[in-house]
Amino acid sequence: MSKDLIAKAGSPLKGRIATPGDKSISHRSIIFGALAEGETMVTKLLEGEDVQRTVAAFRAMGVEIERLEEGAYRIEGVGLDGLAEPDDVLDMGNSGTAMRLLTGLLASQPFFSVLSGDDSLRGRPMGRVVNPLRRMGAKISGRDGGRLAPLVIEGQELIPIEYTSPVASAQVKTAILLAGLNTAGETSVTEPALSRDHTERMLLAFGADVRRNGLTVTVDGWPEMVGQKIVVPGDISSAAFPMVAALLVPGSDLTLEGVGINPTRTGLLELLLQMGGDIEQLNVREEGGEPVADLRVRHSQLHGITVPIEVVPRAIDEFPVFFVAAALAVGETILAGAEELRVKESDRISAMVEGLSRLGVELEELADGVRIIGLGVELPGGAEVESHSDHRIAMSLAVAGLVSQKPVKILGCENINTSFPGFVELMAGIGADIVWGDGA
Ligand code: S3P
Repeated sequence: MSKDLIAKAGSPLKGRIATPGDKSISHRSIIFGALAEGETMVTKLLEGEDVQRTVAAFRAMGVEIERLEEGAYRIEGVGLDGLAEPDDVLDMGNSGTAMRLLTGLLASQPFFSVLSGDDSLRGRPMGRVVNPLRRMGAKISGRDGGRLAPLVIEGQELIPIEYTSPVASAQVKTAILLAGLNTAGETSVTEPALSRDHTERMLLAFGADVRRNGLTVTVDGWPEMVGQKIVVPGDISSAAFPMVAALLVPGSDLTLEGVGINPTRTGLLELLLQMGGDIEQLNVREEGGEPVADLRVRHSQLHGITVPIEVVPRAIDEFPVFFVAAALAVGETILAGAEELRVKESDRISAMVEGLSRLGVELEELADGVRIIGLGVELPGGAEVESHSDHRIAMSLAVAGLVSQKPVKILGCENINTSFPGFVELMAGIGADIVWGDGA
């Protein structure tokens, strides 16, 4: 059954809220906890569907993962050579991160495995991890010559490579480093721009030998990794929705507590500040090797900008909601160099252009971005829009509904649970009028 959302303009957004745990760090804490020796304790783990897929996959490979209480997990690490062959297909659901990271890991494990996922995931490019892994000697096959899942992996002993990736992708980088962990010698990845570096930080914390030289990161095979205590910071990619909503809804004053502000993830903050957003970083601290802050956000009249190209990889997941901010800004906003948006959970450029134009915004779709003519005031709204089964499109269009003259209905929003369980309740708690509608 499809679940729809109805979002309407209402009261200002006020209060203090904690946002759910970071999705990227949650996946990695399960993976590295399983591969280390001894116990890893994780708190504030994101309990969304994507991370649950990673948890289920490691359980299927014989790893004991115990849920102690909400967000608190104990993982009994089995070491790099302790995983068991799963006796069924590993279903990665909607999660590109789980799929690509596990492809790298499993390529070097001495057993057979099959990875698949939902319609969206089976349409996303896997060649970006399969090709470099094949250069390491991996035996991976799949639809379209291994470019699409399901992927069949006959685990092998691999040889290390020095790989130069054509895309700035933390999933590609991490997949190769994970293969390299179980491979004798030095494996390195060079990216065109620095993608999120949670893997490097976490590997260091677990005791692996990982070195960075400019845009190149290198790991030594067979490190001794020891279980850790990990506190997962709040996900800036989830905080982005209430953050942009508070900037746009008049009279708002909202504090988001414990948000991860790793510099490889703060592109949206930089863009919103450039647009004139009133966002203060308070109580900046470090938790588990990651910088964290409370963010105080107040309503602001934004103005359009041209997005500096170097910010793109650091804001890649936040562009759908950034488009909503640009639609309410005064003047034009231009984004280019963001063709990666077309291969996310949906084609996020066309999904947002379609959705926002139905709500009365003037946009021009570019091959690698968008041009948005900001209205400077609230949107006309009053339409039904498609989420394209993409969690971030659904939440972004819900934020657009909060600043529309007439209610907005967003169709098929169940995938919000992949990254932000409790989104509707959390938004309602700060005064937003977003409710589940009567999906057919
Ligand atoms: C992620 C990396 C990014 C991001 C995704 C999570 C990760 O993808 O979009 O949501 O956890 O490594 P790419 O590696 O495809 O850029």
